[in-house]
Amino acid sequence: MKEKLNSIRQSAMELIDKCTELKSLDEIRVNLLGKKGELTALLRGMGGLSANERPVMGALANSVRGDIEAAVDAKKKQLADAAAALKLRAERIDVTMPGKVRPLGKKHPLTQVLDEIKDIFIGMGFQVASGPEVEYDHYNFEMLNMPKDHPARDTQDTFYITENILLRTQTSPVQARVMESSPLPIKIIAPGRVYRSDEVDATHSPLFHQIEGLVVDKNIRMSDLKGTLSLFAKRLYGKDTVTRFRPHHFSFTEPSAEMDICCFSCGGKGCRLCKGEGWIEILGAGMVHPKVLRNCGIDPEQYSGFAFGMGLERIVMRRYNINDLRLLFENDQRFLNQF
Ligand code: PHE
Repeated sequence: MKEKLNSIRQSAMELIDKCTELKSLDEIRVNLLGKKGELTALLRGMGGLSANERPVMGALANSVRGDIEAAVDAKKKQLADAAAALKLRAERIDVTMPGKVRPLGKKHPLTQVLDEIKDIFIGMGFQVASGPEVEYDHYNFEMLNMPKDHPARDTQDTFYITENILLRTQTSPVQARVMESSPLPIKIIAPGRVYRSDEVDATHSPLFHQIEGLVVDKNIRMSDLKGTLSLFAKRLYGKDTVTRFRPHHFSFTEPSAEMDICCFSCGGKGCRLCKGEGWIEILGAGMVHPKVLRNCGIDPEQYSGFAFGMGLERIVMRRYNINDLRLLFENDQRFLNQF
């Protein structure tokens, strides 16, 4: 019995020593010390021993059991420590590593300048309105004093969807919509996309942007138009900006004008930017035609107004010296990142 106990101890120690997994360690423990274990079975046979052998064997069996338990516990701790160390190593974070740089988005130059223009007009008490890009012929032309046979329609190469529905060629239909449906007085700008069936080249695009403006109230005069738009030009181009108004023609304003600013590149002497003119055209404007007011249900005897419209792309191109309109629509990051 003594030999058996010693050999159990020896082989147990070897098994435990070689063990590399918590699970098999547990199996070893159960096989030896469990209810049906080897050592337990041996102890059950102690009854057959003589009275003076029994305490000696009992003590030996207890010391074997103690040794095995101690070895299992020690191994368990060793395996657990190794597993924890492995996990720590796997989860280690090197806080000295450089961070990942997230590319930062920014506003498109068209949006940047539009925001600036909006701010200028909002600062003068204007509200921002909008209208549909798919528009009725009625609002894009008829209401604006351009009946079907009007020659001015030819200058706006229109994308027709049906005979009566088109892609708006200007933001001016928003004027008619606002006058028809809003209480007076009116003081709005309406930025948005417009469409004309032009071939794409350095200065033409079938899609571009306009910013419309409209003021309707009692006693609105040409001097209000000039004052408002001159102030706008000074805010956008600098306080020393000189403006001039030239007579022009639009079917929905009377009188009509175009506003130029003195060339900010050459100061009026004439250069490439202003094509030797000394002046740069910025926008079209005029007093709202009495017919248009009447079309929208406003009495021209009581109310008057002025309107203006400008092209956003041209303003942006001049501001940043961009010589090809297509750059604004291609979304090439190398171009856009410069703004
Ligand atoms: N809608 C005109 C254009 O596209 C611009 C304009 C707007 C002129 C408002 C006068 C008043 O050319």
